[in-house]
Amino acid sequence: MTSNRRTFAIISHPDAGKTTLTEKLLLQGGAIHLAGEVKARGQARRARSDWMKIEQQRGISVTSSVMTFEKNGITFNLLDTPGHQDFSEDTYRTLTAVDSAIMVIDAAKGIEPQTLKLFEVCRLRSVPIITFVNKVDREGRDPFETLDEVADKLALDVSPQMWPIGMGGLFEGLLDFRTNAVARPEGASREYLGKRDQDAPIPDQYAEEIELARGGYPEFDLEAYRHGDLTPVYFGSALKNFGVEELIDAIARFAPPPRPQPAGDVEINPDYNEVTGFIFKVQANMDPMHRDRIAFMRQVSGTFKRGMKLVPSGLGKPIAIHSPILFFAQDRELADTAEAGDIIGIPNHGTLRVGDTLSEKNQVRFTGLPNFAPEILRRIALVDPTKTKQLRKALDDLSEEGVIQVFYPEIGSQWIVGVVGQLQLDVLVSRLEAEYKVEARLEASPFATARWLKGSDAALRTFAEFNRPNLAKDRDGDMVFMARSPWDVNYQQEKNPELTFSATKER
Ligand code: G4P
Repeated sequence: MTSNRRTFAIISHPDAGKTTLTEKLLLQGGAIHLAGEVKARGQARRARSDWMKIEQQRGISVTSSVMTFEKNGITFNLLDTPGHQDFSEDTYRTLTAVDSAIMVIDAAKGIEPQTLKLFEVCRLRSVPIITFVNKVDREGRDPFETLDEVADKLALDVSPQMWPIGMGGLFEGLLDFRTNAVARPEGASREYLGKRDQDAPIPDQYAEEIELARGGYPEFDLEAYRHGDLTPVYFGSALKNFGVEELIDAIARFAPPPRPQPAGDVEINPDYNEVTGFIFKVQANMDPMHRDRIAFMRQVSGTFKRGMKLVPSGLGKPIAIHSPILFFAQDRELADTAEAGDIIGIPNHGTLRVGDTLSEKNQVRFTGLPNFAPEILRRIALVDPTKTKQLRKALDDLSEEGVIQVFYPEIGSQWIVGVVGQLQLDVLVSRLEAEYKVEARLEASPFATARWLKGSDAALRTFAEFNRPNLAKDRDGDMVFMARSPWDVNYQQEKNPELTFSATKER
């Protein structure tokens, strides 16, 4: 039975209210576990390493975490996507592990750049989206304007499920189109404390607008939503608790249960009778003295039991998973099984890599879990040149974790690191020093982006003969074209139609 799982993420631009909404969702569901705070086997919380300090100093969360809550018999797995502007590959990859997403929009600001970027990643995989227009307790844009913007910018049909009666100081409540009840603000804080009026008359000045909102948009269509063609729109205020219940209810009713996952030519269904899953994230241990990590596995099928043996595709031989971290709600903390859709944290010493498949029989390989071409490239220079070996080890380790990507140029000895967001560079320098005792500087690189090259051996050889200064190998030894500009990519692509220049790479 997997249909009671809903595994989802929240996508938004910083400040739209993701943290506040997350708190309110967790409060409604009760029990909480934050991945970053999980105690390993009863030990006191481990020392935080320096890169965690960056999080504190900058007041942002570098790492994603998993939060699980339950309501009305449904288990919700909320995977947090780092909300800072400098988002990393982690953010992208987390979206490969969810079945749906909530898009939070600030009612006054509409679609902002990061929302758009994350939305595009969702669209690549047809991840269905429920929209939550937040902060209706504040002066905002006309709701029609927001709906039109979502429809235009994201090319989505919008289907409002609620409507704010007035906004800001004039906010009188939130009308639920389905139940026809109005949730009302109460007391001096004007919060939602449970007061609802069933079939309450709508004040004259809003009657026409609400008529239009009810009739002027497509009806909700489950299939169109699940295909990623339509988004139901909820209005609310995370701060004042408006619309949160309705949102949870919408996830329970509409959001898809665990989806089948592509594995080459086949798809693995959640009811497949073997435990399978894939690693979408690896988090270094908080203790810099120990090089163990936690790999986050999204379970795709089967029933996992503590102590089970699974084969990681990268290793070929089984490992026993004795002390998995199961992100269950509190009342089920002692439960030791997990189902499709759940996330399992697996402590390991670097054997598990992002993109690895885990399975009982080692016959399945999940596909569609790409690395993304870096948008920022830097040369890495050692302060103490005798530390080359340590640096190489560190770069290999950190790229394995997905913190950075590393490129070893065919000519010259200056290695290049690539990241999707600026913040990853800070994390890199800080962790090199703290964990590997390597002091390094990042310098400008002549390259703007990288593309993985694919083609016949002969075609690759010919290309290499003429373009050696622009070639590098990645950590796995695969050939990469280092481009000086996007124009460069286009030019080479046109000149070399027998090769593909790929912006993503699957292992
Ligand atoms: P984020 O995670 O998306 O970055 O946003 P976060 O929840 O931290 O919210 C950003 C700011 O917006 C916070 O205010 C928060 O209180 C406020 N906020 C969130 N939801 C609502 C809402 O529904 N209505 C109103 N009026 N405000 C909302 P802040 O002043 O930056 O932080 P704080 O000092 O209140 O924590």
